[in-house]
Amino acid sequence: MAVGIFDSGLGGLTVLDAVRARMPDVPFVYYADSGHAPYGVRDSEDIYQLTKSAVEYLWENGCDLVVLACNTASAAALRRMQEAGVPEGKRVLGVFVPLIEALTERQWGDNSPPREVAVSSVALFATPATVASRAFQRELAFRAVGVDVEAQACGGVVDAIEDGDMILAEALVSSHVDALKRKMPKPQAAILGCTHYPLMQEQFQAALGADVSVYSQASLVAESLADYITRRPDFMGSGKTHRYFTTGDPAHVSTRATQFMRREISFEKA
Ligand code: DGL
Repeated sequence: MAVGIFDSGLGGLTVLDAVRARMPDVPFVYYADSGHAPYGVRDSEDIYQLTKSAVEYLWENGCDLVVLACNTASAAALRRMQEAGVPEGKRVLGVFVPLIEALTERQWGDNSPPREVAVSSVALFATPATVASRAFQRELAFRAVGVDVEAQACGGVVDAIEDGDMILAEALVSSHVDALKRKMPKPQAAILGCTHYPLMQEQFQAALGADVSVYSQASLVAESLADYITRRPDFMGSGKTHRYFTTGDPAHVSTRATQFMRREISFEKA
């Protein structure tokens, strides 16, 4: 038994490394649906079906608790999966809520009415599907009033990262930040609402300017997951092996993952 971490590709490794650092004794099983990435250009039905089968794979492979370390899947599939009902003893969590709780200065489970918060203008960078879902704005509206959100759909960035074309990824980040700034010249905070984007965090920060706080989803999710496991220790795995599965080519995915995370990562075929 272990905790499952799911993403369409390599982006969730940014979350995985943060949760491993926070919970060194917990074994994690990572699942990259590289054969179907990117998700961000798919429609919500497609994202739901792909996410559901990936989560079921992890449930069947010894993970009672699965974290969708993918904003696109969290936006398009999480609520629907939870509403449809998950099997007895299984859980699926997303990455949106910890981020929004941090932005709105809330503790886990604080369901008090929406209120004014320190931040009033937020730039959201995410995949086209996440932006189209408006899930971020919906979750934010449950918790805060008076926050102006400008969303930028960052087409092409995930593909460039998955292909290892960092020159293209960098050029796209700067053009998406320029486009955002034309709509909102001075955001106070920026959310990297795709788990691939921390791999380009320096480029986002440089293009946005030093005075914009860029929220790191990986560390917020790690804190929130550690808190969840402390409250629900029955979901903590007893196994000791970290494993990595992909629906893509394991050799290719392992090479890219090792390059990005700067440690040896070896994927197996899912
Ligand atoms: N890492 C995924 C996310 O957080 C990328 C989605 C995609 O495959 O386009 O949204």
